This record gives sequence, C-alpha cells and structure tokens, in this order.
Amino acid sequence: MTNKPLLWVLGGGAFAFVAVVAYWIFALTLANHMKSDLLPPDKAASYIHAVIEANRTNYTENVVDKLHKTGLAEAVEHWRDEKGVPLPAQFLLESGRLVAQKDLKFTFRLASMTPIYVWNGATTDFERKGLEAVAQDPSKPFGGFVRLDGGRYYQTVYPDRAVAQTCVTCHNEHPNSPRRDFKVGDVMGGIIITIPIDIP
Ligand code: HEC
Repeated sequence: MTNKPLLWVLGGGAFAFVAVVAYWIFALTLANHMKSDLLPPDKAASYIHAVIEANRTNYTENVVDKLHKTGLAEAVEHWRDEKGVPLPAQFLLESGRLVAQKDLKFTFRLASMTPIYVWNGATTDFERKGLEAVAQDPSKPFGGFVRLDGGRYYQTVYPDRAVAQTCVTCHNEHPNSPRRDFKVGDVMGGIIITIPIDIP
C-alpha cells in the first residue's frame, strides 16, 4: 500500500528544492554577467585619478619648469591678476571647476585637513575620514558610497604627497598655511573624486 500524502509532500518538497536551486543559479549568473558588464566605481575613479595626476605632472614638468628654466614666465598664485601662469595645484583645481560647470554631477578637487585656504578643507565626515586615512596609510586610496544632496555617489580620496622640496617650502612659508612642518614625502592632502551612481 503506498502512502500517497507522503509521496505528495516528498514530490512537492523535491520540486520546491529544484526550483529554488535553479533560481539561485540564474540569479548568480545574472549578477555575474552584470558585474562583468559594468565598470566598478572604484576602477572608474582610478582611471580618472590617473588622468588628473598625469595632467598635473605633465603641466609641472613640461610647462611650469620649462617656462621657469627659459625665463619666460613663473607660476604664481595670483596668476589672474599678475604676469604668470597658475600653480600646479591651481591648475588642477581650475580643471575641477570647469568640469563642475558641466552639470555631470561628477567632481574632483584637491583638499587637505590643513589647507592654505579653508575652501580646500574637508566638507563632510567622509572626506575628513578619507583625508585622515590616506595620511596614515598612503599605500591605498580611501573609497566608499556616500549620499550627497539626496543622490548616491562613490567618493574616493587619493593621497597627495610632497614629491618635491618646492611643495614643502611653499606650503610651510605661505602666510595663510596653518601647518609649517611639512617634509618631503609627507602626505599633504588628497585628491577627492566624486562619481554619481544614480545616473538618470
Ligand atoms: C609656490 C607655492 C606652492 C607650491 C610650490 C605648491 N603649492 Fe600646493 N598650494 C599652494 C596654494 C597657494 C594653494 C591653494 C590654491 C587655491 O586654493 O587657489 C595650494 C593648494 C594645495 C593643496 C590643497 C589644500 C590647500 O592647502 O589649500 C594641496 C593638497 C597641495 N597644494 C599640495 C601640494 C603639493 C603636493 C605640491 C608639490 C607637488 C604643492 N602643493 C606645491 C601653493 C603651492
């Protein structure tokens, strides 16, 4: 004599199990597929950072240094009013301002916990944490998801180091600088890159 209700329960259970496993495999495959199709925001930030850094080095070495060596012009802080070209930090900040005007919700800037000008300071807790983290451990950037003005963003702070004595001398001697003990190799601040996640 067969136990029909038991068979029904076992059959139903087996079917449910197969359905759950099949769905799980499908969901995992889809997630993997989507993952390989999309550029992760930390990767995107690393590409953008590479371009920003390359442009700054290129400008410093092939424009500012060349102009100085040939006696043609100097990089000066008040370049808008005086004869001279922008400082490399200002070149970066100015590019960031021009990009911000494009309304892409994508922004970048140079910042520090001890900035020459307060407007280059941290504006959120995340930025503060990031600048502190890269100052402690400059071997890796500090990144994460943040909410700003109701939108979701991926923000990354890359360490900005005193790669030359001129960085140190100028910042230590600047009348506005709140910090005067920078040494070559120190982390002086960070490049903050903000990428929107909810793209319309
Ligand atoms: C001749 C002076 C001078 C030199 C050289 C210089 N800076 Fe600056 N730096 C400035 C000024 C002025 C600002 C503020 C610019 C502004 O907001 O318009 C600034 C801004 C910065 C900031 C943003 C935070 C702040 O202090 O306002 C960082 C970080 C920074 N510089 C790092 C560096 C590094 C790294 C170097 C060397 C590769 C360097 N600077 C070389 C003058 C200098």
